Amino acid sequence: MNIYGRNVLLTGASGGLGQAIAKELHQRGARLTLTGRRVEELEALAEQTQAQVLVADLCDPAGLEQLVEASRDCDVLIANAGMGSDVAIAEMTAQEVDRSIDVNLRGPILMATAFAQAHMERQASGQIVFIGSLSGVIATPNTRMYNATKFGLRGFSLSLREDLSSAGIGVSIVEPGFISEAGMFATSGIELPAAVRKKTPADVGRCVAKTIESNPAEAFVAPIELRLAATLGSLAPGLSSMIQRRAGTADMTDTRSNS
Ligand SMILES: NC(=O)c1ccc[n+]([C@@H]2O[C@H](COP(=O)([O-])OP(=O)(O)OC[C@H]3O[C@@H](n4cnc5c(N)ncnc54)[C@H](OP(=O)(O)O)[C@@H]3O)[C@@H](O)[C@H]2O)c1
Repeated sequence: MNIYGRNVLLTGASGGLGQAIAKELHQRGARLTLTGRRVEELEALAEQTQAQVLVADLCDPAGLEQLVEASRDCDVLIANAGMGSDVAIAEMTAQEVDRSIDVNLRGPILMATAFAQAHMERQASGQIVFIGSLSGVIATPNTRMYNATKFGLRGFSLSLREDLSSAGIGVSIVEPGFISEAGMFATSGIELPAAVRKKTPADVGRCVAKTIESNPAEAFVAPIELRLAATLGSLAPGLSSMIQRRAGTADMTDTRSNS
């Protein structure tokens, strides 16, 4: 789908990757609606990208309903909002579990469903882009809810793509690896070995634009060695877990408080 002149609804626009995606799509002539919870960030970005702002919390039923309604009217839905930091097992509560599922899985599923229903009714074409993660392909220590929700999002995306293929509605998932400069990994305080290569938010923005234009099933924003490691992790989880233990990945913990 061409991006120029299209109405794009972008969740998580106030975050590190959302800002880069918004700037890339604005440069390509998209008409953006930016959503998230932080009003100041959204309004500042909206001024730069001539966008509309929709402030809504995916964990709040009224906020979710607004986002579901807005999903019916756009040409391109980008479900980018996400929360990454898992609490320690001892602190896990039903509320924490619900929050992860609401933001990373339930919200994107309900928005995409409304998008699909409205477009099928109107016999209109459209494009859904989910922002997943390599954590939807390979499991790592300390990220159990993030893994659970991103694995789920990947399954939903790949299946929905098949269901909508004859309706002219594209569905893709973009899987970033470690992203430097801005976003949840950059602000996590996690130190990786120097040899681990990272991509930038601008790389994610360009990948999302290309994804809207070409509708791949899945697109990765990660260096080849990380993609191979993720593929190995999905094919042979036992071997992957042994390698990760030897590499000490369990010690690379997120130093942020959960938000
Ligand atoms: N950064 C990375 O290295 C990386 C790697 C792989 C995948 N990803 C994925 O990329 C996406 C964007 O991540 P990011 O790095 O940009 O993270 P981020 O900087 O932490 O931004 C997260 C975004 O999600 C929104 N959000 C969180 N909880 C919300 C809620 N309850 N209701 C509405 N919006 C909510 C935030 O909005 P407010 O703050 O305004 O509430 C913010 O805009 C996520 O899906 C993430 O899983 C990121």
